[in-house]
Amino acid sequence: MQSPFPTLFKTAAAAASILIMNACSPASEDNAGQPEPQTGDGDSNAIAKAGFGETKAGEATEIYTLTNKNGLVAKVTTYGATLVELHLPDKDGNLVDVINGFDNVAGYEGDGNQYFGCTTGRVCNRIAKGKFTLDGEEYTLATNNEPNHLHGGGDKALSKQVWKAEPSAEAQAVTFSLTSPDGEEGYPGNLSMKVTYTLTDENELRIDYEATTDKATPVNLTNHAYFNLGGAGSGTILSHELTLNADNYTATDDTLIPTGKIEPVADTALDFRKAHVIGERIPDKEAKETADCETSTLGYDHNFVVNGEAGTMRLAARLKDPASGRVMEIHTDQPGIQFYSGNFLMEQEGKGGKKYPFRGALCLETQHFPDSVNHEDFPSTILKPGDTYSTTTVHRFSAE
Ligand code: GLA
Repeated sequence: MQSPFPTLFKTAAAAASILIMNACSPASEDNAGQPEPQTGDGDSNAIAKAGFGETKAGEATEIYTLTNKNGLVAKVTTYGATLVELHLPDKDGNLVDVINGFDNVAGYEGDGNQYFGCTTGRVCNRIAKGKFTLDGEEYTLATNNEPNHLHGGGDKALSKQVWKAEPSAEAQAVTFSLTSPDGEEGYPGNLSMKVTYTLTDENELRIDYEATTDKATPVNLTNHAYFNLGGAGSGTILSHELTLNADNYTATDDTLIPTGKIEPVADTALDFRKAHVIGERIPDKEAKETADCETSTLGYDHNFVVNGEAGTMRLAARLKDPASGRVMEIHTDQPGIQFYSGNFLMEQEGKGGKKYPFRGALCLETQHFPDSVNHEDFPSTILKPGDTYSTTTVHRFSAE
């Protein structure tokens, strides 16, 4: 078979479109886990909580700090049930924050926010032309990524709502909950969701999702964290090494909607079955910004079919930054994973004044395949009343 690159990457610029870490304690501290007011009664498991600012609509938001015995820190906010910070040690134990984000909710509500760290949905990724038919009824959604619907739509997408938080009494964990009413963003059914972030002493960040509905509705939830294992805002991710446990990917048209064909990655630049440096085969190699690209995908922005049985936990991806030695493994029960190489990042200013350049971070979004609601052959995303949507993704960190 011919390499898919000529079709995938040389089409017209239509674009716009656990660790089992050495239990070493960090040699030096970055600004992780700044002293913040503690909630609770001072017991050792108390999870620090602080204000994160008011939304434009005047809603208060909070940020919670999870820490583990090895000094790892994860911070999560009620705004969009979003992962804001993640501090990981390098091979010498130096902690650095590896994800893109903002210092307060105003940043997340601003133009620079490209779904940084949020819970994405009700349906993540794209739905062709914002249309689908379910139980004989046609539904129309926002086409916020012309001509398609992207990441749950407009102002009421899950990433833009303030969730309710419940910190755990037993674990370094916070559960966010939200009920999206029938018809919100055009989707049917009252959808009640819970997203739990847990930081374990085995150096895992685990995300558990649950949802129930009172009317059949598509659901596809993911987390949209942007990682740079060298440190957020420290340059590009082109020297990171990526392994994907995927023999196949879902081929797309120029607007990144699946054609329905599942194609083998063999003999293409999408073959990450063995570790490859990301910059080695990326198209538009010399591009310094989105506008320099001549390909329709602008780089990697593909859904890979994770090998093994969907519904069972298995390795989906392994990412390594050779310079710092930081490693992240992603395990999931989802059928797919979107590898997106930060092709729309635009030097926006984030936490602590750091800038996030083009290809300055990457996303590995575990998910059902894009536009599944319009593809009968894809694993179904339809949640029915009486059933519970339940999925887990574990990020395992180490350094070598
Ligand atoms: C996903 C999509 C990309 C882009 C980003 C957000 O990863 O696949 O095309 O929309 O989200 O900018």
